[in-house]
Amino acid sequence: TQRTLVLLKPDAVRRSLVGEIISRIERKAGWRITALELRTLDRATLEQHYEEHVGRPFYEPLMEFMASGPVVAMIVEGERVIEGVRQLAGPTDPVAAAPGSIRGDFGVIVRENLIHASDSEESAEREVKIFFPGHA
Ligand code: GTP
Ligand code: MG
Repeated sequence: TQRTLVLLKPDAVRRSLVGEIISRIERKAGWRITALELRTLDRATLEQHYEEHVGRPFYEPLMEFMASGPVVAMIVEGERVIEGVRQLAGPTDPVAAAPGSIRGDFGVIVRENLIHASDSEESAEREVKIFFPGHA
């Protein structure tokens, strides 16, 4: 069984979509949330989390957005949960995301795309250590 690091981004919290999004994740058979925290992220945490994007044109606006208000960070565990949450989220660009997906149902702006989910087992382990060192 797998685990993944999920962030409900500041837009999701501001728009009161936390319950809606968590509910979609919770209803998947056999998945469970094993850690959850509402937290405003500091620069150091975000630099670690988004180190793969340093130097991209969207990096600074992304960092600023991600620090603009609290996020809900969580660990979700279960069968095929890494690919599964990415599927629930939909593609990065919400306008390209199909209706029925989280980004497709609620998003318009690429930066404000509501949710982050680890993209591989390696990313998941790296990101869990950043956000929940006690669960490493
Ligand atoms: P995450 O789960 O947040 O990592 O999203 P992702 O894996 O679908 O996308 P990626 O890791 O490539 O990019 C991280 C985040 O940067 C995205 O979720 C967007 O918020 C933002 N981002 C990525 N590409 C672009 C872009 O071309 N323009 C803008 N404005 N933002 C982008
Ligand atoms: Mg990513």
